[in-house]
Amino acid sequence: MSYLDTTHDVYKKAAETPDVGLCCTTTPIWQLPGLVIPEKMIAMNYGCGSTVHPRDLVNEPNILYVGAGGGMELLQFSYFSRKNGGVVGIDIVEEMLTASRENFKEAEKLNDWFSSDFVTLKKGTALDLPVEDNSIDVAAQNCLFNIFKMDDLKKALAEMYRVLKPHGRLVLSDPVCEQAMPEHLKEDATLRALCISGALPLWDYIKLLTDVGFGTIEIRAKRPYRYLTPNHYDIDQPIMIESVEVCAIKDPVLADGPCVFTGKTAIYFGDQSFFDDKNGHVLDLNRPLSICDKTAKALTALKRNDIYITESTWFYDGGGCC
Ligand SMILES: C[S@@+](CC[C@H](N)C(=O)[O-])C[C@H]1O[C@@H](n2cnc3c(N)ncnc32)[C@H](O)[C@@H]1O
Repeated sequence: MSYLDTTHDVYKKAAETPDVGLCCTTTPIWQLPGLVIPEKMIAMNYGCGSTVHPRDLVNEPNILYVGAGGGMELLQFSYFSRKNGGVVGIDIVEEMLTASRENFKEAEKLNDWFSSDFVTLKKGTALDLPVEDNSIDVAAQNCLFNIFKMDDLKKALAEMYRVLKPHGRLVLSDPVCEQAMPEHLKEDATLRALCISGALPLWDYIKLLTDVGFGTIEIRAKRPYRYLTPNHYDIDQPIMIESVEVCAIKDPVLADGPCVFTGKTAIYFGDQSFFDDKNGHVLDLNRPLSICDKTAKALTALKRNDIYITESTWFYDGGGCC
């Protein structure tokens, strides 16, 4: 049996009997005015973060959600899009699609603004999306791609890139792990399916995203996810796993490389009213400016004693002063 078959079985069971805590983190569930999430949907929250960010959802975007699960995030996306077929959900497990359909019916009873018609559910695989090229504004996946082995992960990322319009956004949440995951855990199909042993180091994941063509990457959140210990797993040393929320934007990759925002900020505190690096960044006196890691490196290389550059917060949220 392949690891993809095991994954199918794990989620067939998780569709038939909700498994609270299957994948979970400290990320709070969105509380929004007039949004009531059915209890079963919450019990079937198999995500490890959030992919729903209101700032991504302006101008009536076409939204694609891969690995629909119990449908909680599709309901949350619908809250912002509110139109028939505004959110397309894909899942490979028939029982999961049935469960989420039932959950949407329940959501209709609890939310007068919501109609099940807002969501179109399709059976399909992340590895070969039943979606046209360049047709999606926001594509999301939560806690699915970490399950894939490298070749499949590359395929799944290339599929997301293919279906996105230029400047479209892939919003994802997945576990990451900076320690070497032992081979026997990586090869354990059940642990992979449970989103425990497929986690990659964050920079490896970022490289896969930029290699596929995404020119801008935002690391929006990083939180503790799991602490694997020898008394529960066949390992010698504890392993810390975190979960990240990432937005990868289908911007062109610039000649000097992609822009990866990890939450660094530059502050100019010199004798002039501003500092211009002549490369598109103007630092006004004493005003923090969010910068990508490439710019942070370039500014650091100037060896000036009037620019302070912060560490990565791993909580980049765009913006800037004024
Ligand atoms: C960990 S759950 C996450 C569910 C949902 N994203 C959430 O946050 O609650 C993974 C989901 O992906 C689905 N899935 C597994 N393999 C898939 C594949 N190859 N293509 C599409 N969906 C898949 C599973 O059925 C399950 O619903």
